[in-house]
Amino acid sequence: MSLIQHFKGNGPSGFGYASTAEQVTEGLSLAGRNILLTGCSSGLGQEALRVLALRGARVIATARTIEKSRAACAAVAGETVPVACELAEPASVRACVAAVKALGYRLDAILCNAGIMALPKLQQAHGIELQLFTNHVGHFMLVTGLLDRLADDGRVVVVSSGAHRQAPREGIQFDNLSGEKGYGPWAAYGQSKMANLLFAKELARRLAGTRRTANAVHPGVIRTNLGRHMSPVAYALFGMVGPLFLKDAAQGAATQTWAAVHPGAAGVSGAYLADCNVAPCRADADDPALAARLWTVTEEIVARLPG
Ligand SMILES: NC(=O)c1ccc[n+]([C@@H]2O[C@H](COP(=O)([O-])OP(=O)(O)OC[C@H]3O[C@@H](n4cnc5c(N)ncnc54)[C@H](OP(=O)(O)O)[C@@H]3O)[C@@H](O)[C@H]2O)c1
Repeated sequence: MSLIQHFKGNGPSGFGYASTAEQVTEGLSLAGRNILLTGCSSGLGQEALRVLALRGARVIATARTIEKSRAACAAVAGETVPVACELAEPASVRACVAAVKALGYRLDAILCNAGIMALPKLQQAHGIELQLFTNHVGHFMLVTGLLDRLADDGRVVVVSSGAHRQAPREGIQFDNLSGEKGYGPWAAYGQSKMANLLFAKELARRLAGTRRTANAVHPGVIRTNLGRHMSPVAYALFGMVGPLFLKDAAQGAATQTWAAVHPGAAGVSGAYLADCNVAPCRADADDPALAARLWTVTEEIVARLPG
């Protein structure tokens, strides 16, 4: 909870900056719904897991390892199914897709929440810059692998960030997906979050004419383990401004939870959501040609991956 929330009202959805995941699901019964969630072991994913399960959903909750998934599931009340999914490891993502298919559930929502931010030095997975791989390519594999299990009115929610505005001028540097021609921690994070947005919007275009939806989310700014790669000074400053400007995790999990389950989000697709409402994004995130190119290039990357 922060000071700034007292100056921000609610939007057309009836919710806003200060709304929490519990508030946006109050009175909803999610019994019978199956929701796949990535990054359940920390921060916003941990809170989304808790609240979705609290409201009666069966949450198929993934973390990097089965031990982390089990620990996160054991910490909450309700029906949960722990599954491992290391997004930077294609074999793990493929095993996750197979495990979820084997469960046999129709998925009412896929909530792509896991992410990493601002790695100080260039790291790669399979020749691709690691933030782009983890945040975008891993989720692309997971979602496209499970699309045939998405319910007729199923929702895909991709957690992006306001940091998509820090993406390179071109949006996606297709000639530098490895990061080897130049790397900046925040530009690379921004690019990965731009990719999240473009993916959600392109998926929405591909789902047009159906009742299935895809949206991207900016959760707000929250002090979570996401800041683990920030310098200690920057992280400490981040903590100091928290009481003034930051959301807490309960508020930070609200928009993705709203997008995944609230009746008010049912007809919303291809949108960028912040504070539980449709919000403006950087203009090139709405460029269908850029989004289509990213989809094709990601398919080519996935086709080259081992296993
Ligand atoms: N916090 C913010 O201010 C903020 C702002 C805008 C957008 N977001 C976005 O919100 C999402 C959630 O972030 P958060 O703040 O909750 O961060 P967090 O506390 O660090 O949680 C991130 C989760 O993602 C998991 N993860 C990281 N790398 C992974 C990988 N390779 N494979 C599988 N899981 C992986 C983490 O697992 P481990 O703990 O095992 O690494 C953790 O469970 C992210 O997509 C982030 O970009 C956050």
